[in-house]
Amino acid sequence: MKKLTISTIKKRKNSEPLVMITAYDALFSRLLSESADLLLVGDSLTMSFGGNGDTLGVTMDQMIYHTNAVCKGAPDTFVITDMPFGTYIDTKTALLNAIRVYQESPADAVKIEGGADKAPIVEHLVQNGLAVCGHIGLLPQSVRAEGGYKIKGKNEEEALSLIADAQAIEKAGAFILVIEGVIAEVATRVARSVSIPVIGIGAGNGVDGQVLVFSDMLGFYEPFVPKFVKQYMNGAAAVKNAVFDYKTDVQSRGFPSDAYTY
Ligand code: KIV
Repeated sequence: MKKLTISTIKKRKNSEPLVMITAYDALFSRLLSESADLLLVGDSLTMSFGGNGDTLGVTMDQMIYHTNAVCKGAPDTFVITDMPFGTYIDTKTALLNAIRVYQESPADAVKIEGGADKAPIVEHLVQNGLAVCGHIGLLPQSVRAEGGYKIKGKNEEEALSLIADAQAIEKAGAFILVIEGVIAEVATRVARSVSIPVIGIGAGNGVDGQVLVFSDMLGFYEPFVPKFVKQYMNGAAAVKNAVFDYKTDVQSRGFPSDAYTY
């Protein structure tokens, strides 16, 4: 598959839905990139792989390390890197940190959580040569401030506020927008209100593409499966069964047999 560019991504508005998946390492990015249009090095990596309860603890150094790994495994796939919590608190801080992503990895774009309030930051990054993906709706980096993960767009006021957010982020120069945890009908209205592709997660089917956390969609994470996650395989069972078979072989001295012996 030919690597997408900002311009070919934008052309997918109201067209063939974009397929985005998170990726955190080279091993999986190589596999995921066979079907994904876009890979997102999400700060969710600190939950899925770091074992943390939310995304707030991840650092720039960690994001850059994982971005390099993902890009090595999928050199021909468009890669977006999440800017961690606290790294874009003002335009100057945001620019210095976003520049680090470009200087220290081959990432194609950065992602920033926030609506109209973050538009000046998006604009500053874009004016300084960065490609920016917005992220509105349920904002995982606000989980502690909001006291939980709250679905958005539950009334007309919230719907209008989301539309205003999307339009502000588009006007600021973002080339794509993630919308998370929003009532489907409202997410559809948001997508129709802007001319950049809107990628949904827990936001229904009326948007321009979908993103899922790869370890969720492959069924590796057992403790909690959000309503919006479709598990395309039972990764947890596959791993556990395989390791159980290995254990049985080792304990019975069935492994290594002659076939695996020098
Ligand atoms: O970090 C992440 O995985 C994300 C997705 C939920 C969009 O931002």
